[in-house]
Amino acid sequence: MEENPFLRARKSSESASQSPQELNKQWWENLPMTYTEWEKDDRLPESFAKVEMAFLQSNPWIRRRFSFANWRGKKVLEIGCGSGAATILFAKVQANVVAIDITEMATKLTRMNALSQGLSVEVFNMDAEKTAFESGNFDFVFSWGVLHHSSKPQEAFKEVSRLLHSGGEGLIMVYNKNSLRYILKGLYWLIAKGKLFAGDSLETVQRYFTDGYYHRHYTPAELVTSLANVGLKTKKVSIDHMAKKMIPFIPKILDDFLKRTLGWLLIVEFVKK
Ligand SMILES: C[S@@+](CC[C@H](N)C(=O)[O-])C[C@H]1O[C@@H](n2cnc3c(N)ncnc32)[C@H](O)[C@@H]1O
Repeated sequence: MEENPFLRARKSSESASQSPQELNKQWWENLPMTYTEWEKDDRLPESFAKVEMAFLQSNPWIRRRFSFANWRGKKVLEIGCGSGAATILFAKVQANVVAIDITEMATKLTRMNALSQGLSVEVFNMDAEKTAFESGNFDFVFSWGVLHHSSKPQEAFKEVSRLLHSGGEGLIMVYNKNSLRYILKGLYWLIAKGKLFAGDSLETVQRYFTDGYYHRHYTPAELVTSLANVGLKTKKVSIDHMAKKMIPFIPKILDDFLKRTLGWLLIVEFVKK
């Protein structure tokens, strides 16, 4: 059996379907986002409190820079809710949050999460590229680590724009192409692990160590342009990384600087024109 959990999930998706978005969906049905190690066979969360803690701990940008409370009483859509960590944080501050995810597993986990905390949340099994909501329905759209996994991210950006009313706001995080992880880890797998000789490129080699059937990486300029093309005006671009050190053996202060300039997480806050 294939040892690498990412490759195992790819093979399993490919044996189930050949349709581009179905490949994405199946990958996440195989390996749901539960903040449990990818290698473990049983990846169901031990508790939803642990999921929330892991979400906040591993995403320092959210902890330090994002206020869920700003959206109290507002209509919020979370796209790609996974196990429901962010959805629950919106619900806890009394935002009117609706969550969607393309997998049955994630919708089930998010419903269970809300139920276990006595919170009322609407959760739907929907594809971000084609939702069933009316246009202009939301004040805020939040999507963390999701749209780069969709088979046609630009369709999903178009849908985000359609769902926001004029003046509505959003925040999305996708993977940063101008990141040390993309370049250095990519080169390591290409050269030291010999994938170059198997025909891989810097782009295709990412699949050996990156989650999702698709994981398109964007430069900040590419993302800002992609959003502008669907009527979403960027207010702020931030770059960050997960909590653990990006480069071992260098001083933390330098590591933090590199995270803010060449980190893997590309976060854009925008407004619908
Ligand atoms: C990396 S996980 C992130 C989950 C959650 N946002 C978090 O940060 O914990 C990506 C999630 O996006 C979902 N997803 C991928 N493509 C999607 C699409 N086109 N529409 C809706 N959800 C999608 C996956 O099923 C998965 O649950």
